[in-house]
Amino acid sequence: MHAPYEVPRISVANSPLAGTDTDLIIVPIAQDRADETLAKLDSAIVDDLRSALQRGEFKGKPHEIYTARTAQGWRASRVVFVGGGHRHEIGAERLRRMVTAAARTALQQKRARIAWADLEPGALSATARVEIVADGFVMANFDNGVHKSRNSDGSQFFVRDAVILTADNVADAARSGQAVGEAVNAARVLINEPGNLLTPRVLAEKAAELGSVPGVSAEILDEKKIEALGMGLLLGVARGSAEPPRLLALKYEPAKAPAGKMLGLVGKGITFDTGGISIKPADGMERMKDDMAGGAAVVAALRCIALQKLPLRAVAVVPMTENMPGGAATKPGDVHRGASGLTVEINNTDAEGRLILGDGLWYARKLGATHLIDVATLTGAVVVALGKITTGLWGTPQPWVDHVRGAADRAGEKIWQMPLFDEYKDQLKSEIADMLNSPGRPAGSITAAMFLKEFAGEGPWAHLDIAGTAWAEESKPWQPKGATGAMIRTLVEVARGGLAER
Ligand code: BES
Ligand code: MN
Ligand code: ZN
Repeated sequence: MHAPYEVPRISVANSPLAGTDTDLIIVPIAQDRADETLAKLDSAIVDDLRSALQRGEFKGKPHEIYTARTAQGWRASRVVFVGGGHRHEIGAERLRRMVTAAARTALQQKRARIAWADLEPGALSATARVEIVADGFVMANFDNGVHKSRNSDGSQFFVRDAVILTADNVADAARSGQAVGEAVNAARVLINEPGNLLTPRVLAEKAAELGSVPGVSAEILDEKKIEALGMGLLLGVARGSAEPPRLLALKYEPAKAPAGKMLGLVGKGITFDTGGISIKPADGMERMKDDMAGGAAVVAALRCIALQKLPLRAVAVVPMTENMPGGAATKPGDVHRGASGLTVEINNTDAEGRLILGDGLWYARKLGATHLIDVATLTGAVVVALGKITTGLWGTPQPWVDHVRGAADRAGEKIWQMPLFDEYKDQLKSEIADMLNSPGRPAGSITAAMFLKEFAGEGPWAHLDIAGTAWAEESKPWQPKGATGAMIRTLVEVARGGLAER
């Protein structure tokens, strides 16, 4: 067994590059402002970079890497230049990718001690930059080969020590960036975990552990309590599985939080989605172990919210089950009643996420949540609409949706609002029950959102469909193949913005 990640010791220092006691120094370069950064560096290094720029070996394009030897008198042995594209493009997402791409290069070079020179302002404040650098350093120190009995070269390597070189007083920003990076890594570990090892019971335990920080109380409902509460939609999905369902609720209630408002984060926790009786094709089904990515995201976000002691009340609710085609499984045409009282005709057992979320949203409201956000790998249709680049966003009323959108923007995560026009509701009509769970191909991600809306009550609610963004199908310079940790930073940023006047 290999460790999935290690958190490097992160510090902030105002020391000159040459005198910094480290193995490798990373210098960000904006394509259109290389000269400004060169003017701040020693001549020997400047000559090397300038000739690379002249030859066109290095252009400063996004995530482009150029490694140079350091000059005489430097304590570090290498400088890694990382491109950022144009300065005005260097926002949160770009900078984080620059940091992780450079830090992953450091891992390949087996440099245990690295430093980031904060010499390129980009389009960000000093605190925002430092938070992102710390976050990116933690996120890069990740190895998804946890189940390999040995690495191909027989050893595992992590960065141990990471310094951010800056004149600004930003130690707090480094600490919160580290907390976010840690929570994202912990969520990614859960999401990458195979379905045989991460059953609903195991996920409930591990997620409760991840959420157990000061100020947070955890409650795990077993199948008996789930039944006693009338959550027939969650139970209906769980019927086909040999594993019993669970529902995790984490509650964060700081003393100084404004009364009357509570953020409710609800995440889809399907530990494996076979499709049930409406079974999925074999090709690519293995990926369906990530169908609890929304659940992992809300738990990781709640952990960060509590660690940062944000002044608001919040709950995270994760209904958990497998979706399997066992002998007792729900059959197409079956009707189940959820805890809210609504009945659903299940014409396709593969549309299971909306069912368990229906009961999850109801439970979050029962716990007192007034402002809801659900996160789910909900539909293949959102991948058709927005690809694997952008998370789909739905919600009401518009100020709440705008708040979520603004948070995603600051967090550096791509998100796009989709409509909830009333006309789409016609597709949800059932002859024999209140609703159908699978309203056909047209507008598949929208009708899924319309379904959830029926369980969200009258207050503010937003829905994030991460089916396209939760998983990286191929490795990129800034991110290995596998779980991405999508939307965790956005949720934390929503909480930072608070719930006032929304
Ligand atoms: N977990 C899937 C959605 C999914 C698909 C996530 C592809 C990631 C990649 C979800 O439970 C599902 O199966 N949705 C169905 C709904 C349909 C039957 C209405 C889908 O999208 O095909
Ligand atoms: Mn499904
Ligand atoms: Zn699913």
